[in-house]
Amino acid sequence: MLTIALPKGRVAEESLDIFEKVFKQKFVFEDRKLILETKMFKFLLIRNQDVPVYVKHQAADLGIVGLDVLKEKSMDLVKLLDLGIGKCKVCVGAKENEPIDYNKPEITIASKMENITKRYFSNKAIAVKVIKLYGSIELAPLVGLCDGIVDIVETGATMKQNGLKVVEDIMSSSAHLIANKNSFISKKDEILELYSSISKVL
Ligand code: PRP
Repeated sequence: MLTIALPKGRVAEESLDIFEKVFKQKFVFEDRKLILETKMFKFLLIRNQDVPVYVKHQAADLGIVGLDVLKEKSMDLVKLLDLGIGKCKVCVGAKENEPIDYNKPEITIASKMENITKRYFSNKAIAVKVIKLYGSIELAPLVGLCDGIVDIVETGATMKQNGLKVVEDIMSSSAHLIANKNSFISKKDEILELYSSISKVL
């Protein structure tokens, strides 16, 4: 039996669609339940950012999570497969009519992704103060909390509707199948069989 951590929301639904294609059966969570147990799998519904934590501590053998989250957390996990779902970009955004002033001694960026933000600007030798937020990032520059943001862009609608624009792309992301290192050894056959079945339907 493999325990698989899924990120709540559309990626979990699309992941279960992939499992349905492979195993020709329906996988549906009951109303508010966070565990779905079948003969072969135990699926867990977890907040996106927490998926690597469950997998790292082996509370789940496998997980499905965005590359952006993996880069942000930099945990020691086995990255198995790009599932090609949950595609988005991590971008720097700023007010449409007010570009970030890189001549300032230090710029202030609001983001959920503190580490990606720090790494990105430090590679460009730009001094940055990162204000960690947990959501509604697009609001921050509008009320003077920061000069710009680093955030996920999927359709671009949230930035546009809030008078912001993408000024730089940092990375592309999509959901990846990951494994716990010990599980990858102790349940290698099961995991590789699943890996190969999933690869065939992608
Ligand atoms: C994410 C992200 C952006 C939005 C981008 O937020 O932080 O706000 O989606 O999507 P779009 O480009 O399609 O408009 P999420 O929906 O996770 O909500 P949050 O603000 O609570 O984090």
